[in-house]
Amino acid sequence: MKKFNRLEIKKICCIGAGYVGGPTMVVFADKCPLINFYVVDINKEKINAWNNEDLTKLPVYEPGLDNLVKKCRGKNLFFSTDIEKNIATSDIVFISVNTPTKTKGIGAGKASNLMYVEECARQVAKHAKNHTIVVEKSTLPVRTAEVIKTILQEAQNNRDNKHNMPTFDVLSNPEFLSEGSAIKDLNEPDRVLIGGESEEAIDLLSKIYKNWVPKERILHTNIWSSELAKLTANAFLAQRISSINSIAALCESTGADIREVSRAIGSDKRIGSKFLDSGPGFGGSCFKKDILNLVYLSNHFGLPEVADFWEGVVEMNNWHQHRISKLIVQKLFGTISEKKIVILGFAFKANTNDTRESAAIQICRDLLEEGAELIIHDPIVDKGQIQLNLDNDKTLTERDKNHENNYEYQGSWNFTNQLNTVFDDAHAVVILTEWEEYSDLNWISISKKMQKPAWIFDSRLIVDTKKVLEANLKLWRIGDGT
Ligand code: NAD
Ligand code: UDX
Repeated sequence: MKKFNRLEIKKICCIGAGYVGGPTMVVFADKCPLINFYVVDINKEKINAWNNEDLTKLPVYEPGLDNLVKKCRGKNLFFSTDIEKNIATSDIVFISVNTPTKTKGIGAGKASNLMYVEECARQVAKHAKNHTIVVEKSTLPVRTAEVIKTILQEAQNNRDNKHNMPTFDVLSNPEFLSEGSAIKDLNEPDRVLIGGESEEAIDLLSKIYKNWVPKERILHTNIWSSELAKLTANAFLAQRISSINSIAALCESTGADIREVSRAIGSDKRIGSKFLDSGPGFGGSCFKKDILNLVYLSNHFGLPEVADFWEGVVEMNNWHQHRISKLIVQKLFGTISEKKIVILGFAFKANTNDTRESAAIQICRDLLEEGAELIIHDPIVDKGQIQLNLDNDKTLTERDKNHENNYEYQGSWNFTNQLNTVFDDAHAVVILTEWEEYSDLNWISISKKMQKPAWIFDSRLIVDTKKVLEANLKLWRIGDGT
């Protein structure tokens, strides 16, 4: 049987309609009007939300996403729960499902849980009809492609009808987009990485990207380098944040200012100025998960020193978040019991509705343990999401989960998306996400509403120091030892 029935790719299916699968296929559809894109997911609610006429109800909040969905949906972009049919009729299947850290069994707490990826491979093996290029879009441990290949091969051996059996190529094409700037990152990627063995399959995937990405930015590697490069990129980025946050603590003790230190070191071209903003610690679904995965792999391959080195990046991040909670308690005279504290921002960074691993989760939990009465504001994240993050403890047993209020704090929390009333009688304001609207608050009028002495804790360095101090407020800023 001829491997490729046609040289043109006509239809692409992406399994997983999440933060990566959704925006990625939306941009692909915009750039490749002659190809049909089907984004499929087991989650019906999510697919309904992607199909919602009201574009403010899309499941992913990303600047620019709504306009592109409006432009392509129903033309060459479709969202569906019909996974089988769309696998069967596609030339390329992207696997873009979640790969969370394992919570149980071997490697729990570090290794990636590959059950969703494995399930996808089995579905492709079962339903594919022609030659199909299977592309790993999810971030995966090194050598996962081997698992996928084995599943595809074994499933074929078990097919009843041995005639006209599909054939497969497996490629690794990790995604480097950042949430909040996903559309821009996808439109103008620094590089596109394609790892694999089959030159023919690599060329076909490259040809799609060449519709908008300059060819010198499309890198071909072997499949294992591609898988490892993705984990390494995230580990290096996260390491920069732990590095700058560790120095921020030192700045506070020594009279230095982290912004001046960042500027000074970032002017060195070898270091570069990006990703040097001190903050409340890195969040997001990727950094912690991917570093822990690297730690697990390093141990697995008998390299405990390498594992320890990278684990330090996550430990520093955890320590840093607890450090912020502790100093809030200290500044408020050692007790925050029954004190009203305003939390500004719950998303893990601005311009996204994603809260996974947000620093706000750990810091709010610490403050709730101390008995604070939190009032949480976020312009995009909704209350239900915060409830899942604060009140659902993953470490609880199944039995405990059956009880409604399964997480008992000393304190309590409430949510609002109205900024005008949130400051009444508050003892402190803690800025955790750098939403633009928090950088231009009227501190004089806020000060009048708060209990004195009133503290502003700025973990994102976005407030105007002069205006806060002139409003008779006390100010702590991350990394500001002056
Ligand atoms: P997500 O949780 O937002 O989306 C994953 C989707 O896959 C979910 O909607 C889930 O229902 C669906 N799914 C799971 N199993 C399925 C199955 N068998 N069939 C159909 N659908 C299934 O996850 P995400 O943030 O999009 O991340 C996906 C992958 O991309 C992960 O490996 C992640 O590490 C990687 N990644 C994420 C980002 C990011 O910024 N979020 C960036 C680069 C890479
Ligand atoms: C990251 C990678 O950047 C991206 O390439 C990869 O594909 C997925 O993981 P993301 O997690 O979406 O993207 O956002 P990112 O901008 O990297 O921020 C991660 C965390 O680091 C956020 O909590 C952010 O606030 C924090 N951060 C980032 C800082 O504290 N300081 C910085 O200078 C940059």
